[in-house]
Amino acid sequence: MGALALGCARPAPSPVPAPPALRTAFRGVFLVGAALNAAQFSGQDTLGAAIVKAQFNSITPENALKWASVHPRPRTYDFAAGDRYVAFGEQNGMFVVGHNLLWHKQTPRWVFEDSTGTPVSRDTLLARLRDHIHTVVGRYRGRIKGWDVVNEALEDDGTMRRTPWLTILGEDYLATAFRFAHEADPEAELYYNDYELERAPKRRGAVELVRRLQDEGIPIAAVGLQNHDRLDWPSPAQEDSTIDAFARLGVPHTSESNPFGDGLPDSLQQALARRYAELFASYLRHRETVTRVTFWGVTDRDSWLNNWPVRGRTNYPLLFGRDGRPKPAFAAVVRTAPTRERRDD
Ligand code: XIL
Repeated sequence: MGALALGCARPAPSPVPAPPALRTAFRGVFLVGAALNAAQFSGQDTLGAAIVKAQFNSITPENALKWASVHPRPRTYDFAAGDRYVAFGEQNGMFVVGHNLLWHKQTPRWVFEDSTGTPVSRDTLLARLRDHIHTVVGRYRGRIKGWDVVNEALEDDGTMRRTPWLTILGEDYLATAFRFAHEADPEAELYYNDYELERAPKRRGAVELVRRLQDEGIPIAAVGLQNHDRLDWPSPAQEDSTIDAFARLGVPHTSESNPFGDGLPDSLQQALARRYAELFASYLRHRETVTRVTFWGVTDRDSWLNNWPVRGRTNYPLLFGRDGRPKPAFAAVVRTAPTRERRDD
């Protein structure tokens, strides 16, 4: 017979538990990351750095490793910021991502031109690309765990984006960039990253592109779904079918999440919270496929959407407000996490 002990003392009222950190809530499900600016990883922004350390287990450099930052002139590499970024990640036990090796933006003009301003030959551009990728990836070999190798190579209609990369090198420039990155660090995960893949024509183009790379034996570890989400787009069904399309190719997906509204009265705070919950529910339905969810920024103060598509327009897309405090959307996201996965840090 079992004994039941009945205590007489009234239990102390249990304090309302603080919500777990994002990285704790989703441990064992997927990594939760943030894109960092220099002030955060160099320590000037102490509030931002503290939120990053408390909440995230993966980081991506917002600008520090882009071509224009790291390789501004033909024979000049500047790794000051990149080194600080990687050190910050290592000190805090983060999964450290590199972003990005080949893009049509934030790439200096000299890359594509000779000293007279004439477009360079295919061989010259290949040599420059090889040198760039070998030098940058090689420097952080074994420390940066995953690289966005090629960024945004597709037009909205799913055809190859008309960039100097395409014009000068031809369509196989993607495979070439992945090969160079693999040579420079055979252990690093290599990703293709693009936005609005929820739109059917672009998604078809991306699926085709990934399939071609796979057919050529290119080790592509994941597709970065750069989600330029809005409050009303994409629908959960579109998100689900997009993730499914890449899951069928056997490539996991990492997500860069960035929903936004146009000003936040309470009704919009709540709408943003519901929207985030709906998106995370979709990611969770695909937890076997989604390996990482990265927010493009930490607090609303740092969001790139304050300057894009309209310079200087205040935006409110992230989980932490300008004061660093969690918004209702933070709790809404944490509530989506499967309870049994929650553990203490
Ligand atoms: C953005 C940065 O957040 C801004 O600071 C910078 O001025 C422009 O680039 N797609 C990408 C990111 O792949 O690199 C971009 O980052 C946002 C869109």
